[in-house]
Amino acid sequence: MATEFMLNGKPARAEADAQTPLLWVLREDLELTGTKYGCGKGLCGACTVHLDGTPVRSCSLPLSVAAGRSVTTIEGLGADGMHPLQQAWIDANAPQCGYCQSGQIMSAAALLAGNPSPTDADIDAAMSGNLCRCGTYPRIRQAIKRAAVLMTPVVAPAEVQS
Ligand code: FES
Ligand code: FES
Repeated sequence: MATEFMLNGKPARAEADAQTPLLWVLREDLELTGTKYGCGKGLCGACTVHLDGTPVRSCSLPLSVAAGRSVTTIEGLGADGMHPLQQAWIDANAPQCGYCQSGQIMSAAALLAGNPSPTDADIDAAMSGNLCRCGTYPRIRQAIKRAAVLMTPVVAPAEVQS
């Protein structure tokens, strides 16, 4: 039986067995390869996607859990294909090999959705489940702070009464 859910804002349908990890459905069946396989055990964060806005490890989540819910991957994070986090990642030259970075960005997006101005401690706590073998943590922290600035609404000066 097919599993139906929302994927990056559009209806999606997967024919895979309901116990198939969501990661494989995304990568193999729906051809969204931005989400990566790292450990396969929920330990590294490379496979992070959002389920109803909450970051989850798609390697450890059966497809059945996504039924009727909303999944967001790195491909759907920015409405026009470039989320401020992705711009900030470029500005900070954050990636090295790049393998962990889509998972990092998805966790960072969840952080900023709930905390638009995180401290270093907030960032470290929110990102502690996302491992980077290249040690890009300082640049990731810098990029998150840059994104927080980019995402801060610009307040227009009050109109002068004539
Ligand atoms: S691949 Fe899912 S947490 Fe490592
Ligand atoms: S950039 Fe290489 S693992 Fe993070």
